[in-house]
Amino acid sequence: MTKHKPSIPFLDLHKINSRYHKQLKSRFSDFLDSGRYIKGGFVEEFEHTFAKFCGTKYCIGVGNGLDALTLILRGYIELGKINPGDEVIVAANTFIATILSIKYSGLKPVLVEPDEKTFNLDTHRIEQYITDKTKVILPTHLYGQLAKMKEINAIAKQHDLLIISDAAQAHGAKDDSDNVAGNLCNASSFSFYPAKNLGAYGDAGAVTTNDAVLAKIVRSLGNYGSSIKYENDYPGVNSRLDELQASFLLEKLKDLEEDNKLRRQIAKRYLSEIKNEKIQLPFWDGSENHVFHLFVVRIADRFEFCDYLEKTGIGYLIHYPIPPHHQKALKQFSNLSLPITEKIHEEVVSIPLNIGLENHQIEQIIKTLNQY
Ligand SMILES: Cc1ncc(COP(=O)(O)O)c(C=O)c1O
Repeated sequence: MTKHKPSIPFLDLHKINSRYHKQLKSRFSDFLDSGRYIKGGFVEEFEHTFAKFCGTKYCIGVGNGLDALTLILRGYIELGKINPGDEVIVAANTFIATILSIKYSGLKPVLVEPDEKTFNLDTHRIEQYITDKTKVILPTHLYGQLAKMKEINAIAKQHDLLIISDAAQAHGAKDDSDNVAGNLCNASSFSFYPAKNLGAYGDAGAVTTNDAVLAKIVRSLGNYGSSIKYENDYPGVNSRLDELQASFLLEKLKDLEEDNKLRRQIAKRYLSEIKNEKIQLPFWDGSENHVFHLFVVRIADRFEFCDYLEKTGIGYLIHYPIPPHHQKALKQFSNLSLPITEKIHEEVVSIPLNIGLENHQIEQIIKTLNQY
């Protein structure tokens, strides 16, 4: 987004990843020696370790976060728990991938406004959108903060709905009973896109669930619908986590808890030290329910503010500049009136928050925002 190279980049992935170079070189050498590139021991080990991290019985490595969600939905369709054309409730301001996964599965996305305070699905609005066709509530834990899962669980229970969460931005977020994202509903999807809190070195994703039947079908669907070589039970796709990404992810997973802690510490500083009436800071209750994948502020005059960040050398991004229902790719939703979503997309700016930031850079960011 920034036009000139900022003195404080939004995210310096090379710097963050450089602390792993030695271990990854050794892992790469093991990978070469193994002669196994797909469906080998590293994927199995990662799946086992990530399931343990999330507290779920199963983890299935897949190609990316979009596929993870699509495979869950398709899995439930194959199991007859949902039917093509059924409705899925989703936050209108989520990343487009969440909505695309619903479309790809032949289901109907029902876009619901978010809660202005948390940017997550507004649980007070869900029930008015429930029809005979509604089968799933699909909350995203946007920017790294858990959606209100207790409320969503209560609604789902009352209306006999499935809950599938998009946890692409929330690896390691915990509720007040210490349940971790990925283990808060029927099934969850993760993305390990390089910039995520747990980021691979290419595309990668995973599904977590406690449902043995769903786990089996998701694994099969991601492998051409096959559990036994050359026997195809479903019209599946090719979406498998590869051995190298799995091995690299295993290395980074060791630090995820500490990294999330550090992210929360930086967020705490921003929240207590940025004091500027023009800048609306994000809501956080101070618990571990937020892993600050992004630190998103709101500002009425975004154009002017971004210009200021350019001039002062602070990197920034906008998550996201165009609401999904205004994207050309989702034309069928263009007539929807979603004023909260639209206003959020006009006002949000993500400022740097990552584990590569030095103390003096954090101070510089705070000072620059206070001087705006
Ligand atoms: C909320 C959300 N959902 C889904 C995705 C899709 O993940 P991927 O890019 O790995 O397909 C992403 C990440 O890009 C995301 O942020």
